[in-house]
Amino acid sequence: MAQIGIDKMSFFSPHQYIDMTELANARNEEPGKYLIGIGQTQQAVVPPTQDVVTMAVNAADQILTPAEREEIDTIIFATESGIDNSKSAAVYAQRLLGLSPYARTIEMKQACYAGTYGLMQARDYVALHPGAKVLVMASDIARYGLHTPGEVTQGAGAVAMLVTENPRILTINRDNQFMSRDVMDFWRPVYAEEALVDGKYSAEVYREFFRDLWARYKEKTGLAIDDFKAFAFHLPFTKMGLKALRDILPEADEAKQALLLTEFEASRVYNKRIGNLYTGSVYLSLYSLLENSTTLTAGDRLGIFSYGSGAEGEFYSVELQPNFRDGLVTGQMDQLFDSREYMTIPDYEENFMAGLHGATDREFDITKDPAKFVLAGLKDQQRVYLAH
Ligand code: HMG
Repeated sequence: MAQIGIDKMSFFSPHQYIDMTELANARNEEPGKYLIGIGQTQQAVVPPTQDVVTMAVNAADQILTPAEREEIDTIIFATESGIDNSKSAAVYAQRLLGLSPYARTIEMKQACYAGTYGLMQARDYVALHPGAKVLVMASDIARYGLHTPGEVTQGAGAVAMLVTENPRILTINRDNQFMSRDVMDFWRPVYAEEALVDGKYSAEVYREFFRDLWARYKEKTGLAIDDFKAFAFHLPFTKMGLKALRDILPEADEAKQALLLTEFEASRVYNKRIGNLYTGSVYLSLYSLLENSTTLTAGDRLGIFSYGSGAEGEFYSVELQPNFRDGLVTGQMDQLFDSREYMTIPDYEENFMAGLHGATDREFDITKDPAKFVLAGLKDQQRVYLAH
């Protein structure tokens, strides 16, 4: 069977951020709790001119050639902070990116897990349709509310992945282990802009799912921790992945434990500064690992753990390809972090209180947003997207 996987990968997050030491001070918490206990140093802030559609197309636009825009015949959009209960965000993305009209477009939802389902659908589709190219986007705004325990774990961003045969970055192994269970750890009723969460319970369920799937994976494949060069975890906050990794570290010797912890640090460099981006979170961690690890080489096996509240989890492995960094957008993350605008906590609170667009027709000031694709406003209950 053909080798299938991620050929190219790109990331986008809005141009504003807040500092977690300042948020801790404003919430009468010790900065150490946010910086180390939670593992976040900064948090992306979403201006009114960005939503899940603009973030996803801002990411995808950076990797697609004109030929690929014609060739892609399936567009999968994973999100849990969608903009419409009927129309798929993928249809907007198709138009804005200038993709072929002869493509299927679909939006998928299962909390933070849907990006992984989308990726596996893409892999299986390409396996059945040799030569096909599938665009998978995972885009979200994580929003809990001011003065809530979840506030420090907010964030936003999008990952775009092109899935093809003979991919540049990695091939996806057919060793997936997955499970679902009806759990009320985190949810967002259709009338709510902010997530509801049983925070400590959600972290327990995450770890239970990981331990269960890891045990099942080892049993089904005969592989062990030594077969893995590194892991990328869903990172709702970066300490969460560390807790999961520590659950299995005793299976390795001391030297291997040190190596896995070093790779884990590489896998959370970006997530620490962006925050949670739900569906895209585990893939931002993968991106971070690929760019920041100094030891990864072709042929390495990486373990990926995807978790979505509610709950669904999946563990699978991938194999790195020669010159895997050629599939990433060089300098993209440095440029984002170098140019991001710092925001004060009062300004962030005001931005937050304005809410997520609502139903009233209005125009937004797009001159302050440097992103190519922006939401210019709402007119006749329709979103007005522009490229500038
Ligand atoms: P909390 O109760 O405010 O925090 O909320 P805490 O009291 O548990 O403290 C956090 C950590 O900081 C603890 O470490 C403290 O010891 C430590 P731990 O025991 O966990 O290792 N700490 C310090 N460390 C250093 N210096 C100090 C200091 N003080 C304390 N001075 C909670 C934490 C995660 C519950 C909250 O932020 C929350 O509810 N977050 C949202 C839910 C969440 O992210 N859950 C994760 C699992 S569910 C998931 O991943 C799915 C999700 O992405 C959604 C989806 O699928 O769609 C969320």
